[in-house]
Amino acid sequence: MRALIVGNSDGIGLALTRRLLAEGWEVIGLSRRPAPAGAAQVADVTSPDFPAAVAEVGDVDLCVYAAGIGDPIENDDLTQQTRALEVNLLGAARTCEVVAPRMLAAGQGHIIGLSSLADTMISAEAPGYAASKAGLTSYLLSLDAALRPRGVAVTAVRFGFVDTKMAKSPVTPFKISPEKAVDVLMRCIQTRPAVVSYPRRMAALTGTAGALLRARARLRRR
Ligand SMILES: NC(=O)c1ccc[n+]([C@@H]2O[C@H](COP(=O)([O-])OP(=O)(O)OC[C@H]3O[C@@H](n4cnc5c(N)ncnc54)[C@H](OP(=O)(O)O)[C@@H]3O)[C@@H](O)[C@H]2O)c1
Repeated sequence: MRALIVGNSDGIGLALTRRLLAEGWEVIGLSRRPAPAGAAQVADVTSPDFPAAVAEVGDVDLCVYAAGIGDPIENDDLTQQTRALEVNLLGAARTCEVVAPRMLAAGQGHIIGLSSLADTMISAEAPGYAASKAGLTSYLLSLDAALRPRGVAVTAVRFGFVDTKMAKSPVTPFKISPEKAVDVLMRCIQTRPAVVSYPRRMAALTGTAGALLRARARLRRR
C-alpha cells in the first residue's frame, strides 16, 4: 500500500509516517523541511508549484493532510492569520484537487485531513486557525458526501490537544501523545469513518464552549 503524507517532517505526520513504514507501507512525504523518515520531498503547500509536486507523487491508496500552523493574533498585523488559512485550508484543498481525481479514476482511495476540535470555536486568540479548521471540517465532510458513493472515502479527524510543538497553549486539557493520535488514525485507516472527534470528553467541552461563544456573539453590540 502507498501513502502520501503532507506535513510529515514533524509532529503527528512524522509519527504516522514511522508507524506506516513499520507496518510495511510505502510512504512519500511532502513538507518544507526534509522529513527524518520515509521518502520525503521538500515542498511548501503555499507555493504555486505545490500541485505539481503532489501530481509527481503519482497514485496513492491513502493521502493524509497533516500540514498545519497556528499563530496567536497580532492585532496590527493579520498576515499570520491569512497564512493559517492558506496552509491549513487552501493547502488541503489543493492537495485534494490533485489526489481525488486520481483516486476516482482508480475507483478507490482514502483521504484524511487533520482538522481540530477548534473548528466549533470563535477564537479571539487565533482567528485564522479556528476559521481554517471550521472550513476544513466542512470541506472534508462535503467532499466525503460527494466522493464516497464513487469509492473514495474522506475523513475529517478532529483532535483536541496533541503533544507536539503546535500545542503552545499553557493549558492543554486531555492532551494526548502523538503515538495515541496515530492509534486513532490507524483505526480510521481501517474503518474509514466520515468524521472522528478525539478525545470525546474534550469534544463535548469544545462543542459546549463553541455554542456559548456563538450565543454571546449574537448579543454583542457596540
Ligand atoms: N498538536 C495539536 O494539539 C493539534 C490538535 C488538533 C489538530 N492538530 C492538527 O494536526 C496537524 C499536524 O499538527 P502537529 O501538531 O503535528 O504540528 P507540527 O508538529 O507543527 O507539524 C506540522 C507539520 O506541518 C508542516 N508544514 C507547516 N507549514 C507547511 C507548509 N507551508 N508547507 C508544507 N508543510 C508545512 C510542518 O513541516 P515543515 O515545517 O517542515 O514544513 C510539519 O511537518 C495540523 O493541521 C494541526 O492543526 C494539531
